[in-house]
Amino acid sequence: MKIRDRLSLQFTLIFAILLFVVLASIYISTEKNRKSAFYQRLHDRALNIAELFLAEDNLSSEKFSEVQKKYPLYLPEEVVAIYDDKDNPVFIKQNTYHWPANIIDQVRTRKSIQYSTVKTQVAGIYYADNSGNFAVLISAEDKYGYIRMKQLFWAMTLTFFISLFIMFFLGRLFARIALSPITRVINEVKIIRSTSLNKRLPTKVSKDEINELVVTFNNLLEHLEQSFEAQKSFVNNASHELRTPLTSIIGDIEVTFLSERTNDEYKDTLQRVLIEMEKLNELINSLFELAQANIDVNEFEEIRMDELIWQVKDEWMHKVAGSNIELNYNLPQDPQKFTIIGNRYLLYIALGNIVKNAIKFSDNKTVTCSIHCEGNNTIISIKDRGIGIPREDISKIFQPFYRGTNSTGYNGIGIGLSLTEKIFRLHDISIHVNPDYTNGTEFIITIPVINGEK
Ligand SMILES: Nc1ncnc2c1ncn2[C@@H]1O[C@H](COP(=O)(O)OP(=O)(O)O)[C@@H](O)[C@H]1O
Ligand SMILES: [Mg+2]
Repeated sequence: MKIRDRLSLQFTLIFAILLFVVLASIYISTEKNRKSAFYQRLHDRALNIAELFLAEDNLSSEKFSEVQKKYPLYLPEEVVAIYDDKDNPVFIKQNTYHWPANIIDQVRTRKSIQYSTVKTQVAGIYYADNSGNFAVLISAEDKYGYIRMKQLFWAMTLTFFISLFIMFFLGRLFARIALSPITRVINEVKIIRSTSLNKRLPTKVSKDEINELVVTFNNLLEHLEQSFEAQKSFVNNASHELRTPLTSIIGDIEVTFLSERTNDEYKDTLQRVLIEMEKLNELINSLFELAQANIDVNEFEEIRMDELIWQVKDEWMHKVAGSNIELNYNLPQDPQKFTIIGNRYLLYIALGNIVKNAIKFSDNKTVTCSIHCEGNNTIISIKDRGIGIPREDISKIFQPFYRGTNSTGYNGIGIGLSLTEKIFRLHDISIHVNPDYTNGTEFIITIPVINGEK
């Protein structure tokens, strides 16, 4: 069921209940008034009759009924009886109805009674007089009252159903008006496809919920567009990086084959091919690591950061001949304060990339790694005395395939730092370049630790 129909139905139902309660209470209180007003008339009438007859007790019963009919307050279907102390009807011939003895008794004991039967209402009064004590009972039908109540009932029923009918359509109209912004958004969203992610939904100045939804949706589109773009440019860059060495290898070999070459010339060609092949190898390894970063995220374990950084230093000092890495520890006693939960392999690669860059871009000058704790964080700083990163490059070096403007003389493809940043993001680790350090480059890595120093 559509929200619009549900809203209008609920609206109608609530209105129906309310209207019913109001109409029913009006009806009930009107009926109560009618009844008590009629009882009042019965009492008055009984009293009148008693006064009339008992004062003039010489009147005959024929005369009585004559006077009774002429009496202006004659009630429809009226039956009157007057009983003496021995329950005998007096003054009025009882040919229509004889009240049971217990009712007459009640009149005597309670002085005044009233009750109703299906059609009629009955009132009784006890009248004491010099000629004796009498119970006067009168019953009549409130015909006009009933007719008015019936009219009221049908008028109310009609009002009820007509109001419901109107309310249902009004409800639908309101629901449509209220939901029209959503319908508009749905129609606009329907147009957007992966090929038109640059489209945005129009926002309004008002700060209502629909506008909030539209803004949220636009933000989502922004993210989607960015990641689509990033993916596209990544594929473009990767295929370009793969094709460049391949084209150069193929060209080199083709040129070499054009004529007969000396042994040394063949050797030269092979040497150049080897260099290009190494580039290809590095690129494929980086791509593999990047893919791995997506797969390995589930294998998390406890890692002591001091040990990890030591392993990284050890590996890179072995890998690059002539490199020198200094390690400075400034750590608390409790190893829990610098132990984190993470993926060892990925963090190893991430830190390795930074150390490798530091060695590379400083032409093997000493690299300094320091590790200390600060509040709930473990901080690692990796500092070199190399070429540094130009200010305008700092914001871009974490993008895939981006290489600094001063890095031309150094081999590399620009994937390392983007991979590092991705791995760190998986671990809630943040990394930034210290802009105040000008003797080279300093990367500062902030690692949140659950059991860090308080
Ligand atoms: N320690 C550093 N010193 C100077 N420049 C750096 C350093 N680390 C990173 N960079 C800059 O960041 C860029 C991106 O680094 P990275 O992603 O590792 O790519 P690559 O090492 O393949 O060039 C580098 O090209 C370089 O310009
Ligand atoms: Mg690198």
